[in-house]
Amino acid sequence: MKKTVAAMLTAVLCMSVMAGCGSKAEEAAPTEETVAESTGTEESGQAEEAGSEEASEETEAPAEAADNAEGQDAEAAAVSEALADGVLNVGTNAEFPPFEYVNDSGEPDGFDIALIKAIGEKLGVEVQVDNMEFASLVSSIGTKIDVSIAGMTVTEERLNTVDFSDSYYEAIQNVLVLEGSEIAGADDLTGKAIGVQLGTTGDFIAEEIEGATVSQYNKGVDAVNDLVNGRLDCVIIDKNPALVFESKFEGKVIALDGGQFNFETENYAIAMPKGDTVLAEQINGALQALKDDGTFDALVAEYIEESNQ
Ligand code: ARG
Repeated sequence: MKKTVAAMLTAVLCMSVMAGCGSKAEEAAPTEETVAESTGTEESGQAEEAGSEEASEETEAPAEAADNAEGQDAEAAAVSEALADGVLNVGTNAEFPPFEYVNDSGEPDGFDIALIKAIGEKLGVEVQVDNMEFASLVSSIGTKIDVSIAGMTVTEERLNTVDFSDSYYEAIQNVLVLEGSEIAGADDLTGKAIGVQLGTTGDFIAEEIEGATVSQYNKGVDAVNDLVNGRLDCVIIDKNPALVFESKFEGKVIALDGGQFNFETENYAIAMPKGDTVLAEQINGALQALKDDGTFDALVAEYIEESNQ
């Protein structure tokens, strides 16, 4: 997997967002067509099996260290508050296959979920997954949740509120169109009815497209349904979910690569509380360990490559 410096990436993303913008209508009337239905919060997906026998060498019993609030010795100081209770509370939005979806047992599942559970195991903490609306994730970090893993792109704007781990996956937006559509390049998007998932980078790109009517949905799949029903001209969504939806609606929907539209690459990373450098070090260390021991590649093969078949 290509490792890219997050800062570089965000700069690129910002340029791409700007490059796409003509003189767009100032306010993009965000709520007009928004599917207001709330996905609710499903408390589920905890890793019951997160036993302590796998506690990593460099992690010292976080639960105990937490109690040393006053006289913090060197070891206690090296434990992030987020991990001090022995539980890593993770927010996701399980509407984004193959990175996260609700499985047949009703639990959040997918590449990101498997990855964060593996990270939790390396750190010797239990992982609890909270399925939330995507647009609520960033603002919930540090309060309702410790971190978020949600196929979340590193952006300049989000960096004002949160820090990001090292990037773990490179992505690009795709354009889903109906079979036979004449949309093929950036200019063809002008004035179109475009569906997006609310608060995503696809949403930000769409809102910069001249004359476009942007409909924001809480779930990407609802946008795709409206595309199939003829209510939209296209849907802008990340490549891997786009490929999953293309095969789900085979013969009806086609995923066009974002390169055709001059979209820039994006990098996914885990969003964390701003300034928690200890947590960042621990998560980045665990991520690197999973890359070194082959777990990361095995998860890519299991969840991502499998979904491309
Ligand atoms: N990569 C895009 C973004 O960061 C979309 C992520 C959507 N993720 C999800 N779990 N629904 O904005």
